[in-house]
Order: sequence, then structure tokens, then C-alpha cells
Amino acid sequence: MSDKVSRRRFAKLAGLSAAGITSPLEMSEAKPSPRGAGGFPPGFLWGTATSSYQVEGAVTEDGRGASIWDNFTRVAGKIEDGTNGDRANEHYHRYKDDIALIKELGCKAYRFSVAWPRVFPDGDGKPNPRGLDFYNRLVDELLKNGIEPWLTLYHWDLPQSLQDRFGGWRSTETCKAFGDYAAYVAERLTDRVRNVFTLNESGRFVYFGYGNGIDAPGLMLPQAEINQVRHNSALAHGLAVQAVRAHGSRGTRVGPAENIDACIPAIDTPEHVRAAEIALREMNASYLNVIIEGRYTDAFLKFAGSDAPKYTDAELKIISSPVDFLGLNIYAPQHYVVPSDQSAGFAPLPIPKSFPHMNSDWLRVGPETIYWVPKLAAKIWKTSAIYVSENGTSGDDRVTPDGKIYDTDRIMYLRNYLAQLQRATEEGVPVRGYFLWSLMDNFEWVFGLNKRFGLYHVNFDTQVRTPKLSASFYRNVIAKNAAGV
Ligand code: BG6
Repeated sequence: MSDKVSRRRFAKLAGLSAAGITSPLEMSEAKPSPRGAGGFPPGFLWGTATSSYQVEGAVTEDGRGASIWDNFTRVAGKIEDGTNGDRANEHYHRYKDDIALIKELGCKAYRFSVAWPRVFPDGDGKPNPRGLDFYNRLVDELLKNGIEPWLTLYHWDLPQSLQDRFGGWRSTETCKAFGDYAAYVAERLTDRVRNVFTLNESGRFVYFGYGNGIDAPGLMLPQAEINQVRHNSALAHGLAVQAVRAHGSRGTRVGPAENIDACIPAIDTPEHVRAAEIALREMNASYLNVIIEGRYTDAFLKFAGSDAPKYTDAELKIISSPVDFLGLNIYAPQHYVVPSDQSAGFAPLPIPKSFPHMNSDWLRVGPETIYWVPKLAAKIWKTSAIYVSENGTSGDDRVTPDGKIYDTDRIMYLRNYLAQLQRATEEGVPVRGYFLWSLMDNFEWVFGLNKRFGLYHVNFDTQVRTPKLSASFYRNVIAKNAAGV
């Protein structure tokens, strides 16, 4: 038999046996790898994440008010496939089954968000206890299953009423309302929820919601106003931190969950690394850096010029209220940087057209991002606790005739990113946990149901969840506490 033929036969046989696997999750239990044998630190927190509008559905139930996403998805042409979050994953009703899926992965933590308009239908004023009750049920069910609830206060579903009355995040009235809402939630849930993220991805909802009109509320404001909205989001973060401290149970931890502008040294030399440190601080000057340092950098103010936000010292104090951890959403490399003798001290390189990306065009594959960004962030901001609050990828995720989803591209992505994350923790970078985006396919904002990020495939007609092969992969990583390259 020629080599060619035997290879082909082998491939066929291997294919058949793969197809014979009854469930990818029925794998033998992996043994945890002891520290030193190439693994994550003991106690490393493994989790998955979702957000309210993307999974809950039930948008008119139990007194929920309208959010800006309910309205925005109605605007013709805004959502690629014309869908919306009315039904999404019906998680509002199926949360118990979904928690069982989290448990099946072996996750110790689940990051979810509270829909503000469920709790305050108008954003402020009269609360709606029935809305909060959903989160009471969710939290209790998580704890019953040995899963830590990690709560995000804001994942973009702003109450429409605040948009209508105040222009949303253009006004500090919305910041104040957010502080009051944070206090209300903290008072009622932090007897069981020990960790709270304030705002998810200010960088995304500000620039996409108020800058280029891609996300809700779909505005395209001039730069000065965008900078003001960004400042207001930092202020809202600070007010929420203070509210959690004042109204939460003692020891509740709180921090941001930001899509940090990811800067990476083009080459691993001390000069390039230094340039990347400077770049990370400057490129994140309008949010993470002002949160940590309590001031806008000189370079940021100079660059913004007359477009710089207007603020007071008192606001800077609130913005920089001490946090307990940094949550970083890390997906794609944004800037590869080199040293420069220009005043900034760094220069971002152009990204070649041929740079590889995953199924989503924006999602460049750069596994080293999840090594460098936490490492540099820990150094420049002297933080002792970082959580990767999101990482993951979309995929084509076709269901094969045997009913399974062999998402080897997602496994490739995760395997490489997790190997780099492990490398960071092995060097002592204080990354304490990782939340994979996402538990299951869901309503992916402007992409509608077209983009799938889940470990579980969702048939949105039947609501059937099916584990993808990556669910087995992740389960194995968690069981071994090692990236397992
Ligand atoms: C993050 C968001 O930006 O990336 C998630 O926090 C989102 O909510 C995920 O689902 C994927 O983004 P997108 O734009 O591809 O749907």
C-alpha cells in the first residue's frame, strides 16, 4: 500500500471514529496538573460569561422597562440579520438548565450582567422588585451548584428613559442614576455576590454608541462630546465603586471590565517592551489610566486640545476610587509598537492586510496579547489582581450530519491564548481568573444571531443547546488547571 493510500485510509478511519463519539463531554476526567508541571496557579478561577440583553429575552416580563437596545434593534438596517434580543436564549426562563451547562464544564464562576431596566424600569425613581428577583433566583441557583456569581452592573442595556430624558451618558444625570442603581443592587445582592464589575467595555459603548453610530444609541457626535461621554462613563464607574463600598456587604470586591486598548511590543527587547508600557498607559489614558492614576496624562490632554473633556478635581477623585481588581476583556492585538524618539516614546505600527483573523473580521489572532497586556498592565498600574473578564472567538460552527459541532478553529484559538496566559501566570503576573466569552451562542449585537461565540451551540428556533467540541476542550483545561498545548 502506498504511503498516500494508507494516509488517506487512516484519515478516513480517524474521521469515522471521531464521528462515533457519543458526546464530546463524555471524556475521561483529567487529573489536575500539580504546580510546577506546567499549569495555572492553584485556585485559578475558571469561568464563562454572558450579558443580560444578549441572553435573557423576556424583554417585557415582570415589569422590565425598555432599554436602548430594544429600540435600536428596531431601526432598519442596524442589525445584520434583522433580529433582536426579544427572545435571544430565553435565559430568563431557562437559567436553571444553563447553570447546569456551566456546571458540566467544571467552571467555578459565572459572569452575568444585571439588566438595569429590569431593576429600575425608568433608570431612576421607582424600583421594580420583581425585576431584581430574577437575579436573586439566578444567584441562589448558582450558589446551589457551587458556582460563584460575578455580577456586571452595566453591559450596555441602558434604560431608554435615561436616553430620552438626559441624552444617556452625555449627561452626569445618568451617572448619578447609575450610582443609585449600583447602591440598590449592592444592598440586595452582595450578601451572596462577592465580586462586582462596574461597566462593561466603556471603550466600546462610548465610541460605537456615540462616535460612529454602530451600537445603540446610534449617535455620531463630534470628538469633544465623545470625550465628554467617555469621561462620564469613568465617572459612572467611580460612583458605582463608591456605591458598592457604601452599600455592599463588607469585603465585596469591585473593579472595571474594560476592553483595554491592547499594546504589544513588536519585538521582545527591553526597548520595545518599554515602548509598549508607555503605549499601554497612553492609549488607555481616557479610562483605565485615569481610573488608576486619578488624572489625565499630559499627552492625552495635549492631543485632545480644545476637545478635552470638562471635569472637576472632585470628579477625578471619584473616578479614581480604589478598585480591588482590573477586569480586562482581551481578544485581539490592537497595536504592535516600537520605540520612537518622537515625544510620545512609542509608535504603533500599521497592521498588514494579511494579518490573520478569526471568523469575525475584527478578531485578529494574536495569542501573545493575553501574555503581554496583563504583564504590562500589572507593571504600569501596580495591580495585584487581574481577571481576564472576557476572551473567546466566534466561529462558523456548522452542525455536521452527525449532529455535532467540531469547532477546531475555536480550540486552536483558545489553546494558543491559554498557553500564553499560562506563561504569564508562570512568570508571576497576577492574573487570578479567566472568563470565557461565551457560555453559549447569543444575540451578538449588530451581528444579530449571525456570529456564534458559544461553547454551546444554540438552535434559536428550538432553543436546544449542544456542546461544541470546544466545550470538551475547556472542560479538560479546567480539570487539569493547565492550558494543555
Ligand atoms: C465584547 C462584548 O466586546 O465582545 C460582548 O463585551 C460581545 O458583549 C463580544 O458579545 C463579541 O463582540 P461582537 O461585536 O463580535 O458581537
